[in-house]
Amino acid sequence: MKRILLTVGSIVLLSGCGIGENSDQSEKKNETVQEENQNSTEKQQNQTEQNHKPQEEKKGEANEDKLTLEAAYFNKIAEVDGKKVIQNPENILVLVNKEYGLPDGYAPADLVRPNVAFSFGDQDIEKSYMRKEAAMALEKMFTEAANHNLQLYAVSGYRSYERQVEVFNNEVQNVGREQAVQVVAVPGNSEHQTGLSMDISSASANSALSEQFGETPEGKWLVENAHKFGFILRYPKGKEAITGYQYESWHFRYVGVESASGIYENGLTLEEYFHVVEKI
Ligand code: DAL
Ligand code: ZN
Repeated sequence: MKRILLTVGSIVLLSGCGIGENSDQSEKKNETVQEENQNSTEKQQNQTEQNHKPQEEKKGEANEDKLTLEAAYFNKIAEVDGKKVIQNPENILVLVNKEYGLPDGYAPADLVRPNVAFSFGDQDIEKSYMRKEAAMALEKMFTEAANHNLQLYAVSGYRSYERQVEVFNNEVQNVGREQAVQVVAVPGNSEHQTGLSMDISSASANSALSEQFGETPEGKWLVENAHKFGFILRYPKGKEAITGYQYESWHFRYVGVESASGIYENGLTLEEYFHVVEKI
């Protein structure tokens, strides 16, 4: 097992690099990766603590422009039939996208139903579930929104591989494959299968998952505050070339407070935050 310390340099230089590009130049300029042995118990402990632990292991000359991350949480990748398959899908910071997919049959072990308002009421159905840590954070976020007189609705959380097959095929049928892949992940490559994402809307947007939600007070509040609860707006406007997806004002992804704050404050995507992930 490896423990990796990564120093990510100037955020200004990072922004604008795509998934495929991953700015070799900025990697060389701005990052140092150090590896040392770490046993699996330590790793597990770190994974549990990652979202609550302040950055305490700053190495090198940290300055205002630099983030120091403990990167024991990066994707571990194996090539399977020419595809990049994530070997540690339970990682809270897992990067699932068009490049990195989940292992066959992956389903999180700790799915629970958060105690929040759902657009479909009290039905106990698959899409109401999230992983426990994310579910607890979602409850706090919805409560705080309510304290500001903002009524959020959870619309779609966990999706099994099989469900993603249905969602994807429906979209292909409706708009054709070329357009479908801009908005729906191919099965095995959806964050929804991790149990760490929730599509969120509001009464003011008729619980719709549409760009309009981003214009509502609820959508705006989420953009500005979700990071305090460990969530990020996963597919922001203007970052389509990096995330590989159209702007989704409704799709929020749990990564933990520390990472979410770093991503929010520096205007990053998860891809940019982990732009050296393929090295691990
Ligand atoms: N809409 C997102 C990309 C998904 O299908 O996972
Ligand atoms: Zn979504």
